[in-house]
Amino acid sequence: MSAPASPAVSLASDEQRPDGWLRPHSKDMSDAWQLALECAGDGAWDWNIIAGTFFSGPHFKAMLGYAEDEFSSSYDEVLAQVHPDDLPRLRSALAAYFERAERPFGCDLRVRNRDGEYMWMQIRGRLVERDAEGRPLRMVGTQRDISQARQAETALQEQLAETVRLNHQLEGAQVQLVQSEKLAAIGQLAAGVAHEMNTPIGFVSSNFTSLERYVGQLFAVLEAYRSAAGDTPGCAQAEADYQAADIDFLRDDLPALLAETRDGLERVQRIVRDLKDFSRVGEQEWQFTDLHRGLDSTLNILRYELKHKAEVIREYGSLPEVWCVPSMLNQVFLNLLANAAQAIKTQGSITVRTGIEAGNILIRIIDTGSGIAPEHIARIFDPFFTTKPAGKGTGLGLSLAQDIVRQHRGRLFATTAYGQGSTFTIELPLSSLSPSATDTGEPS
Ligand SMILES: Nc1ncnc2c1ncn2[C@@H]1O[C@H](COP(=O)(O)OP(=O)(O)OP(=O)(O)O)[C@@H](O)[C@H]1O
Ligand SMILES: [Mg+2]
Repeated sequence: MSAPASPAVSLASDEQRPDGWLRPHSKDMSDAWQLALECAGDGAWDWNIIAGTFFSGPHFKAMLGYAEDEFSSSYDEVLAQVHPDDLPRLRSALAAYFERAERPFGCDLRVRNRDGEYMWMQIRGRLVERDAEGRPLRMVGTQRDISQARQAETALQEQLAETVRLNHQLEGAQVQLVQSEKLAAIGQLAAGVAHEMNTPIGFVSSNFTSLERYVGQLFAVLEAYRSAAGDTPGCAQAEADYQAADIDFLRDDLPALLAETRDGLERVQRIVRDLKDFSRVGEQEWQFTDLHRGLDSTLNILRYELKHKAEVIREYGSLPEVWCVPSMLNQVFLNLLANAAQAIKTQGSITVRTGIEAGNILIRIIDTGSGIAPEHIARIFDPFFTTKPAGKGTGLGLSLAQDIVRQHRGRLFATTAYGQGSTFTIELPLSSLSPSATDTGEPS
């Protein structure tokens, strides 16, 4: 046996077999070679490139489910068993190998077995002969079944992808939990503060009413005394004091002062009431509620934010009472209305439209703001997606809102015309708006 000259081995001394195959150096060598390969679990092949014939060993055939006398020895027919998607890769790997033939040839591909199923095979080979012009003549090599390894790899990749997905989901859930707990805490705090303020505001207001009455009485009595005194001597000093204190001005100014104070007081009272109404103390539970009441209290909370920017148009249809957690839906309204207000640069309108369409309760928040850029639409519900400057938006408003609407078995979606405005629609199915639609009344 002569030592192979790398990269191609001259097999010039090999005798020609009747079937056209070049016999390896010796029969013993061929058997030993095949035995060694088969012990290693590999099948052997021998490809006569010029003749277009392809010899494969018994193990090669057995791997694909063929008996020893069954498999074709035509290269083209063997090639036809390779998965069409893998053919281009095989061809370019061969071309690259023939070009340089530095390292052994290798390619993983799918080969159809006798049952018509594709199996992953690892093909390794080496060019053993070239003609005088350097054209490849013959190549020998091995085939190894790597289906199981491939399957395991695919399963592992799927598992990895699933783990990544679950992690992502977990992260989102965690963020939303933190956010909604934060909001609930803020809501409770606001409700607590509102409750605490209620008592002092109550007595300030009631005292103020008395004060208004007393002041009126005092002025009336003062006037009576003053006219009774007339020009009575001895009262000159009293009159001088009256003039010095500019009581006439006080009397004119006081009603305006009192009215303004009363107005301020009423505003504080309203804010406290709105806060209490919005956070719906004691309404963190599932119950039937009037959504318009929730929309109104949310609009009240935002009154000062909206006042200079947007005209609020309420187009309320008639709605049944809805089975929901009111404080949670108010959170959704707040996020959508705040977004609408923030989308309006200088002046615009926000329409709140409600009604029933095709078995669904629809609540639409329609703004004439900036609209949403086409490249952003797919992402607006993603946690942390924001186009607002750092510190202004967390990007959690919509994802939280969507989560809450889903818990109510509904959908939240947006339509928009860039530069003209957006419409956010909350769709709640009428059919699920009763406790009987859920086992426990709890969101799933
Ligand atoms: N009505 C709207 N008009 C135009 N763009 C909107 C509107 N509502 C939401 N968006 C876009 O969707 C993004 C995400 O909204 P989301 O409410 O989730 O977060 P945010 O408002 O940026 O921050 P956060 O609500 O946490 O303060 C916004 O940054 C904005 O680009
Ligand atoms: Mg927002």
